[in-house]
Amino acid sequence: MDIKQSKILILDYGSQYTQLIARRVRELDVYCEIYAWDADTADIEAYGPQGIILSGGPESVHMENAPTLNEIILKLNVPVLGVCYGMQLLNQYYGGLVEGSEAKEFGYAEVNITETSDLFARLNKTKLDVWMSHGDKVKSLADAFKAVAHTSSTPFAACQHKELPIYGVQFHPEVEHTTDGREILGQFVHHICGCEKLWKTDNIIETHVESIKALVGKEKVLLGLSGGVDSSVVAALLHKAIGKQLICVFVDTGLLRFEEGDQVMQTMADKMDINVIRVNAQEMYFNALAGESDPERKRKIIGELFIRIFEKQAKELDDIQWLAQGTIYPDVIESAASSTGKAHVIKSHHNVGGLPDDLALKLIEPLKDLFKDEVRKLGVNLGLAPEMVYRHPFPGPGLSVRILGEVKAEYADVLARADHIFIEELRNHDLYDKTSQAFAVFLPVKSVGVVGDARRYEYVIALRAVETIDFMTARWAHLPYEFIDLVSRRIINEIDKVSRVVYDVSSKPPATIEWE
Ligand code: XMP
Repeated sequence: MDIKQSKILILDYGSQYTQLIARRVRELDVYCEIYAWDADTADIEAYGPQGIILSGGPESVHMENAPTLNEIILKLNVPVLGVCYGMQLLNQYYGGLVEGSEAKEFGYAEVNITETSDLFARLNKTKLDVWMSHGDKVKSLADAFKAVAHTSSTPFAACQHKELPIYGVQFHPEVEHTTDGREILGQFVHHICGCEKLWKTDNIIETHVESIKALVGKEKVLLGLSGGVDSSVVAALLHKAIGKQLICVFVDTGLLRFEEGDQVMQTMADKMDINVIRVNAQEMYFNALAGESDPERKRKIIGELFIRIFEKQAKELDDIQWLAQGTIYPDVIESAASSTGKAHVIKSHHNVGGLPDDLALKLIEPLKDLFKDEVRKLGVNLGLAPEMVYRHPFPGPGLSVRILGEVKAEYADVLARADHIFIEELRNHDLYDKTSQAFAVFLPVKSVGVVGDARRYEYVIALRAVETIDFMTARWAHLPYEFIDLVSRRIINEIDKVSRVVYDVSSKPPATIEWE
């Protein structure tokens, strides 16, 4: 079965929500890809979509060099949905007028549906709560279109071509705040474009397993296992496809979460019976990091040491032909965008290292067409524990970024234990999933405290918890005082080396999520 047979194309005009549109379409069990708005005509034709969605974008159609509409979109004779900027472009193309405006409309709006439209056909509603985020808007509608809906400040909130299956919405159906957004996108994708629901987790596993088998044959694959979600899911998927032909190398840096090294071995090697070589490199890492307090230097040391260790292991194993990596679809879109400079994409973080490129191995990236949420679903379906698969993000350089200044084994031990207490209590109090990321930070300053009759002169632990959707901006989590009190008491009572616990009340911006 070709599960990419029914598919949508999303053209990116630079909106921060473009990837969200794609994730929503995938959640509707339909495959889609994101291309830049000025993708080659031949590539668009070759992709052969059953429908096209034009994303929103930060530009104004009036600006010089503003992104334009490639006519191939209309020549393909498939349904088209323009969102925000996409709707304005369609309207401009057919001779309507778009009004520039300095004032932005941002936030909730109530849409009144005044005309029947295929797009809203199954909603049985005349009012919708939607999310708006635009400056420009359509001032006069092209003759080819009919107006379908308005808000109190936007006369054309939705429109439909009078003869062709071409639609526009000024609001954002992909955003959670648009209450009927899923239904509207579903109506477009399933009913108007006629896409079949083939993109389901079970089908994805099955077809990926088949294609891995066909690609790898009897050859062997090497994978660097980090304990993180992506590499664990790659391992589980490859294991299902090729079993013992997969060899994982897991480097324990001593900078992982509390007892994580043992947990990785238990899950992957013992429970799932995956070939895993554990390299206990803790001492090497602490030696290499000794005396170094500059954050960028620390990152570099960790990245380079990883490559050295991994390379050494790879060379000791003969007969390996493939190197597997946990690249996921957003990495692919980001690198494509930055190499052409076409889309407005901000990279969420600078990861360390990468893997050696002089091993002369063929590269296999089994997750490169999947979003993170899809990777997680796959992981659970492949037998990984949901608590592991849905864990908060953890930085590549590990605890090193959470130990300010020089990294020492003693500090890493204190930090891992404090962090464990914090996370354990978040889970106990049902708060873990309500925060997006939470962790402890080690401050190498000593402050005085009293325990019993004795004075204690020990280190400070900072607790950090944030709520965020995209990790680009974040609000500090307003955890209950009683909860913070409990965590603080446990940390100070159970860890001798800590005399004080503080809670970080900085949001991003201006602060970052991590401390260094
Ligand atoms: P910041 O601190 O930039 O963090 O607000 C945003 C997200 O990125 C993660 N982060 C890192 N991840 N290597 C990583 O792999 C790093 O050096 C790094 N620094 C920050 C951070 O945990 C948060 O999720």
